[in-house]
Amino acid sequence: AAAEKGGFASFMDKEIHDQPAAVADTLRGRLDAQGRLKLDEGVVDEYVLKSIDKIIVIACGTASYAGLAARYAIEHWTRIPVEVELAHEFRYRDPIVSVKTLVVAISQSGETMDTIMAVRHAQQQGATVIGIVNAQGSTIAREADAVLYTRAGPEIAVASTKAFVSQITAGFLLGIYLAELRGNKFPDEIDALLSELDAIPAKIQRVLDTAAPIREVAASMANERTVLFLGRHVGFPIALEGALKLKELAYIHAEGFAAGELKHGPIALVEQDQPVFVIVPSPRGRESLHSKVLSNVQEVRARGARTLVIAEEGDTVAAQHADEIFYVPAAPVLMTPLLCVVPLQIFALELAAAKGYDVDQPRNLAKSVTVE
Ligand code: G6P
Repeated sequence: AAAEKGGFASFMDKEIHDQPAAVADTLRGRLDAQGRLKLDEGVVDEYVLKSIDKIIVIACGTASYAGLAARYAIEHWTRIPVEVELAHEFRYRDPIVSVKTLVVAISQSGETMDTIMAVRHAQQQGATVIGIVNAQGSTIAREADAVLYTRAGPEIAVASTKAFVSQITAGFLLGIYLAELRGNKFPDEIDALLSELDAIPAKIQRVLDTAAPIREVAASMANERTVLFLGRHVGFPIALEGALKLKELAYIHAEGFAAGELKHGPIALVEQDQPVFVIVPSPRGRESLHSKVLSNVQEVRARGARTLVIAEEGDTVAAQHADEIFYVPAAPVLMTPLLCVVPLQIFALELAAAKGYDVDQPRNLAKSVTVE
C-alpha cells in the first residue's frame, strides 16, 4: 500500500498531488481542429445539441459542486441557461424536461444510485444525457447517450479531489464545444480559452509547491469547532466544497456561504477568533466584486474573526485584511475554481491528520452511495 500511495502518507494526499496530471489528462486530445469535442462513447446528434434550450446538471456531493463551478463558464460561453440540481431532488420535483433539454450527469463512480435514477427519469422524458464520468464502463457511462470521461485515474480516498477538478475541466470542454457548435464564439477566442486551460495544470502545481503555509495553519487548528467559508461568483461553489471537505475529513462543523448573504444571517455567527475562509476574486476581474468581497473580509474581521484569505498572487490589498493569506496564480476568472479549491483540500487533509483521523476512510462515509 505504501508504494501505491507513491510516497505520500495517504491516498488523498497523493490524489491532491495528482491533480495537475488529472487536469492535463482530461484535456488531452479532446477537441479536433474544428473545435469539435470528441466524446468517448456514444453519439449525440449535433442537430439536437444545436436545438437545446436548457442544460440541467445533475449530481450528488462534490460532483454537484463541480457542476456549480462549471456553470458560470458554460452559461457565459454558450448563452444557454444552466441549472444545477442534486440528483435526489431533481427526481421528485416534476422537473421541466423535454427533447430540448441536455442533461449532464456528473459522477466520479458512475454508480451513485440517485444520479442513475435521475438520468433514467430525464431520458424517459426525452432529454439527451451526457455523462461526465470517471469510472470506465460504469452504469452512468453505459446508460448515458454519450460520455466524456474525466480520465482522472482511480480515486481511492473517499473524499473526492482529483475527480472534482477533472469534472470542472470536462464541463469547460463541453461548454467550449457547445459555444463553437452554436456559432457564438470566434475560433480565435476558442483557441485562447484552450490555451488558458492548458496552462492550468502548471498553475495547480505551483499551488502545491507553495502549500507549506496552509499546512502549518491547518495543523494548528485541530481544536476549532466551527469554520466558515465565504465566496462569491465562482468562489461560492468553492466555499461550499471547502466546507464539505472539512466536514467529511475532520468532523468539524463547517458551512460555505455566498459572501453576499453575509448580512442576511451568517454574520451573526461570527465571534472572537472565529476562523473564516474567504475566497477573494481577482482584482483584474470585475473590480466591484473584488472590493465587495474585501468589504466582507473587513466586516467579519471587525467582529473578531480570524480571516484566512485565498487571493491571487500580487493582491496586496487583500493581504491588508487577512490574518493569513494563501496565494494562487492568476488565471481567467471562470477557471479560478481549479486553483482556489486546492488550498482548501490541503487544509482539510492536514487538519484531519492533525486530529489523528484516517483521511482516506472517514467515518460513516462511502466512496460511492449505491443505495437511494
Ligand atoms: C459520495 C462520496 C463523494 C462523492 C459523492 C458523489 O458522497 O463520498 O466523494 O462526491 O458520493 O459520488 P459520484 O461517484 O457520483 O461522483
